[in-house]
Amino acid sequence: MADTAAPLAELDKVADAGRIRSRKLDGGIATLVVDVTGLGDQDRSALERSLRSAALGIAGVSEVRIALTAAQQSRTIVAVGSGKGGVGKSTLTTNLAIALARAGKRVGVIDADIYGPSQPTLLGSEEKPRAENDRLIPVAAHGIRFLSLGQLVGAGQALAWRGPMATGALSRLIEADWGDCEIILVDLPPGTGDVQLTLLQKARPAGAVVVSTPQDLSLIDARRAIDLFGKLNVPVLGLVENMASYVCPHCGESSDPFGTGSVEREAAAIGVPFLGRLPLSRAIRAASDEGVPPASGTGSESDAFAELAGKLLTALDTAAA
Ligand SMILES: Nc1ncnc2c1ncn2[C@@H]1O[C@H](COP(=O)(O)OP(=O)(O)OP(=O)(O)O)[C@@H](O)[C@H]1O
Ligand SMILES: [Mg+2]
Repeated sequence: MADTAAPLAELDKVADAGRIRSRKLDGGIATLVVDVTGLGDQDRSALERSLRSAALGIAGVSEVRIALTAAQQSRTIVAVGSGKGGVGKSTLTTNLAIALARAGKRVGVIDADIYGPSQPTLLGSEEKPRAENDRLIPVAAHGIRFLSLGQLVGAGQALAWRGPMATGALSRLIEADWGDCEIILVDLPPGTGDVQLTLLQKARPAGAVVVSTPQDLSLIDARRAIDLFGKLNVPVLGLVENMASYVCPHCGESSDPFGTGSVEREAAAIGVPFLGRLPLSRAIRAASDEGVPPASGTGSESDAFAELAGKLLTALDTAAA
């Protein structure tokens, strides 16, 4: 059998020939099965073209049939939400994504905040995404890839989008060419309105992370977000308490401006994992403003995000089991 395909050994000269899973030559017809897992549309077509022309150049080949196969992409989408605004969703999304990447995952971020997209600032990248075959190519930054509604409109432009316009733009981000990304975190806008609803229905996340500060008001709103996820059958993977204790940079004394521990108690009460606690830290705020995510560096903040990332991976495994 192998002999019949012998002339096709020539194809090994083509770049990426390692992706050929089987080759057959029968009656002048060369049949190839090619694994294109992880390649974008453009690369798939390019590989198909180069294999086809190489095969046609082999004596005895009059026709080429190529079947492209791809392993099922096991891509997990995780929404990061809160009921209340300004509790740290975007900061958490960026840094959790980077911590996951540092743990060896291929990670993407979708900034779905139509009111105030903040990922370009947090990731320190104003680069605009290219489009290939009408699909956006996510922009690389700090070891992850991201797309933001902020890249589709001018920076600082108020996004008073509603209805179909917002939904259309969000679909472009979700249906972009995410290549071999394994986990995509979605930074949701605050609240529990229509945009969140549409987005969750379109993106079909495997789960959600809910952020809250320890204040009662934030917790009340967090419960609303948890209700929304429940209604849409999106499992809550865990709660994160942000802006908990504050360590004075001068005297080192730890205080709790917004109280502490209430988010962990809430998680226990509703039976979802508590993923961890982030301190109210001037370093987090300053680094975020400068577009240098703390998770990309070293130190206690970076460690805290790494720990959260580990807990999230465990929660995802448990939810998938
Ligand atoms: N742990 C923290 N310590 C200090 N500052 C923080 C912390 N977390 C977030 N911040 C700061 O709080 C502000 C709000 O954070 P962020 O934008 O991440 O919140 P958000 O929930 O995404 O807000 P929005 O609802 O507007 O989208 C930012 O200035 C950010 O740098
Ligand atoms: Mg935000």
